[in-house]
Parts: sequence; structure tokens; C-alpha cells
Amino acid sequence: MSSFDLYTTPVPDETWNVPMSGAARFTWEYDGGRDRLLNLYQKGKDKQWDAQKRIDWDQEVDPVNVAGLPEEFNPLHGSDIWDRMTQKERDEFGRHQGSWLFSQFLHGEQGALNVSARIVQSVPDLDSKFYAATQTMDEARHVELYTKFLHEKIGMYYPINQDLAKLLAESLEDSRWDLPYLGMQVLIEGLALAAFGVYRDLSTNPLVKQLLAYVMQDEARHVAFGRLALKDYYAELTEKERAEREEFVVEGCYLMRDRFKGREVIERLELPVERCMEYVEQSPMFTLYQSMLFSRIVPCVRDVGLWGPKVQAAYADMGVLDNAKGDLEALMRQDEEIAEKVDAERYEQEVTVRRGEVEEAIALGAE
Ligand SMILES: [Fe+2]
Ligand SMILES: [Fe+2]
Repeated sequence: MSSFDLYTTPVPDETWNVPMSGAARFTWEYDGGRDRLLNLYQKGKDKQWDAQKRIDWDQEVDPVNVAGLPEEFNPLHGSDIWDRMTQKERDEFGRHQGSWLFSQFLHGEQGALNVSARIVQSVPDLDSKFYAATQTMDEARHVELYTKFLHEKIGMYYPINQDLAKLLAESLEDSRWDLPYLGMQVLIEGLALAAFGVYRDLSTNPLVKQLLAYVMQDEARHVAFGRLALKDYYAELTEKERAEREEFVVEGCYLMRDRFKGREVIERLELPVERCMEYVEQSPMFTLYQSMLFSRIVPCVRDVGLWGPKVQAAYADMGVLDNAKGDLEALMRQDEEIAEKVDAERYEQEVTVRRGEVEEAIALGAE
């Protein structure tokens, strides 16, 4: 079955064409790569995995509550709108929310696939080209994984969120080579990483936990890549050039913040939009979620040196300035450890099952 048959609202069947400007850069310096980037590249090669094999796709998912969260976590919970809904309507709402969320993850991954391929071409240094090439492969695997999940476990796609589309287009259109990095590696990836983290840690569904933990293991490297490459470059820029980048960050962060409100679901189900959005904005879950969403972006923006008064004022306005103290290295290590722990648990389970089978066979033999 084609994806087009599974969209909640029809999407155009021709491709979305984003014009690009700028050059494909060649370098004749094949030596002298930066150690930290080359190490990251090595890690990128070592840690490739196959979603068809590493994930237990047989595990069941409830399509009306993919993450298996208690209903109090729903942003409309406790409102009169929620109280008037029948169980069937709540289930429908839940299925749309799950589909919307994972569809945005999916479209974001396709964006990352395109942007990382673009970085391979446009970035001047070979060490960065090497790394971006492994990231391109990572992103292809992520698109593959989220499509499979949406198609087989939810059976419904949502179109791309317009704010995400806008930021993606702006990141690709610019001829300056660092803008795709900033838009994609720092803002979109940083936000996605935080959103994946919320669902990885809260989800009670083993399949959802597993796939998010594995994707995060890769994404943590991608954010580190953006940071390493930009930090060196931004230190050399003029005040004016840095100010332009800071403006891009501020605009991008506001766009990204609004993206996660899930307005399209409310519109699609013809619920009272403005009232629902008010509930969403006031819900304690959403407030918490929002501050967590910026946990990866803010320390990264600070670290690459885009920390002028405008950026700080915007983060203070969003109530996320505190995140600046976050330790990205520690978070990245934790992402690795969690993925490894999921692997270890899986291995443990397999051994137990096998042992059971062996014992059964021996018992049969004895009879
Ligand atoms: Fe990805
Ligand atoms: Fe990524």
C-alpha cells in the first residue's frame, strides 16, 4: 500500500522541491583532519546498525496509545472538552496524536537525510565531509525505521508541519555553508533529540523505547558534529556575521517551539481550536515538555559561541535559559549507555528464551 493512502489529509503526489544555492566544494588537502572530528567519524562507522535486525518488530503497539502513557499525560486531560469526549473519541484523538508526532519525526529525518547530504557537498573540510557521509547513512536508516513504525504499527501519516518545513527550507536555501548545520544539526536535531528523549524515558511500550534509544545513540553524535564544526568556524567570524547567525537562531527557536503544540490534530478532528490550544499551552505536561525540548539546543548554541544578548533574551522569554548550564557531553554519554542497556536486556531475554527451548527439548528427549 502506498503512503498516500494513509495520510489524514491529502498531500501532493509530486515532490516538494526546495531550491538550493551555493557551491559544491572540493579540497586538495587530504591530510591534517581534526582528531575530534575523525574520532567521531570512526565512531559513526563503528556504530552502524540495521533496523531490520536490531529491533524486535514483533512487539505489539497499541495504535491509540503508542507510548503507553497514562491519560493524565494528555494535554487536554481535565478540560471540559476532554470530559465530554466518549472513549471512542479519546482513542481516535490518541491515534492521531501518535501518528502526528511520529510523522513529524519521520519528515524531520527525511530533512536530515537531505541536509546531511548537502553538507557533504558544501562543507570545505574533508574531515567534515567524512563525518557528514556517515550521518547521511544514519539518517537513511532513521527514515526507514520511522516509516516502518508508522506504516505497520499506526497505519496513519500526518503531513509535514509547516514550521518544520519553513526551517528546513531556510536551512537548505542559504548559500553560506554553515547555515544548514545551524538549522539542522543544532536546532532541528537538538529539538528532535530532546523530544525523542522525553518519549524514550516516559514510554512504557518496549518497541517505542527500543527504537528511540537506538536512534538517539546516533543523534547524539550528529549534535556533537554540528558543535565541533561550528565552534571552530564561529570563533573566526566578525561581530556582524555572528549577529546574523544569532538572528537565525532566535527565529528558528520560536518556529520550533510552536511546532510541538500539535495544532494540526485539533484542526483535523474539528475540535474548538483556540480553546484547545489554550489548554495545551497551560497544561503542566506541556510546560515541562517545552522546557525539556530546549535542553539540548540551549547549551549547544552557547557552546558554539552564539551567545549574544538577543539570543539570551529570547531564551529568557521562552523560559528555557536555565538549560544553558546543561552538560552535553554527559547527556551524550547517557544516550549511549541507555542504548547499550536496551541491547543488554534484549540479549538477556534471548538467552532466557533459548535456555527454555533447550530445557524443553531435553525434557522431550527424556520422555
Ligand atoms: Fe536522524
Ligand atoms: Fe540526525
